[in-house]
Amino acid sequence: MVYVTRPIFTEAIELLRQVAEVRVGQGDTPPPYDEVRQQARDTDAVLSLLTERIDAPLLEQCPGLKIVANMAVGVDNINVAAATRLGILVGNTPDVLTETTADLAFALLLAAARRIVEGDRFVRDGKWKTWSPMEFLGTDVWGATLGIVGLGRIGQAVARRGRGFAMQVLYHSRTRKLDVEEALGIRFEPTLTSLLRQSDFVSLHVSLTQETRHLIGRAQLAAMKPTAVLVNTARGPVIDQDALVEALRTEQIAAAGLDVTEPEPIPASHALLQLPNVVVTPHIASASQATRRQMAVIAATNIVEALQGRLPPHCLNPEAFGRRR
Ligand code: DGY
Repeated sequence: MVYVTRPIFTEAIELLRQVAEVRVGQGDTPPPYDEVRQQARDTDAVLSLLTERIDAPLLEQCPGLKIVANMAVGVDNINVAAATRLGILVGNTPDVLTETTADLAFALLLAAARRIVEGDRFVRDGKWKTWSPMEFLGTDVWGATLGIVGLGRIGQAVARRGRGFAMQVLYHSRTRKLDVEEALGIRFEPTLTSLLRQSDFVSLHVSLTQETRHLIGRAQLAAMKPTAVLVNTARGPVIDQDALVEALRTEQIAAAGLDVTEPEPIPASHALLQLPNVVVTPHIASASQATRRQMAVIAATNIVEALQGRLPPHCLNPEAFGRRR
């Protein structure tokens, strides 16, 4: 039995049906934790979304569970260490969403820099009376300095877009990548602070871990230029959101473009959403038709392979394979 926590593309469900019975959760909002726990208990595989918390107590009560396949590249919703200990494989969907996510990061960067959402609202509200030499002045993107935090696949794809806009690109990451530096013409900054001080735009591309939670807090925002724009398509908790609200309100930084928040969804009454200098989208960086379809198919393929006794193509804990049930 495979449990799919919410409706996804039919192609993916059909793939799963070729190897197992499939039970699909029916809501268009995430099922409550207790429901996921209950539904997962007697299954061989769970196809989860990033909205489901798959923690150790849940995994421990599933004696037959062989794989949890997340339809996402990020797996901060899954206790991977517990899964590994229990011999349960964890799958994700990397690569396919890299360019799509980088597109949205750049869209947010442009939107925040050029005040696109503010301008759109102004027009819709009937406030546009004339061409005005001093209104809606934003920040130039071309030729500016872009700081990438985390140079994985998505960080590199954003760096390439930056180079296309004639930006100078700096990056900071745990490991220096000389080959990528050379290929893309980008520069390593040994500390996060030195990157923040020099960048006109900062784009975050780290996964959420204990080390990256609130990586951007008061001190880091204070190190940024007052004209800087911060972009986050990684995970909401990478930024200390209260500190960000303060920095935007006091114009310590110029603007932010956020695809992720803490919590998600962020309440419409939240202080962040009362500010004009922030653009927020509802965690849609990978949401193109083609990419989401492929993500669903990859997640299903991870399950099909695991149920047939093979190592899934995108497995984050291959060490669990030797211990699998
Ligand atoms: C991911 O895959 O982790 C994104 O946040 C959603 O596509």
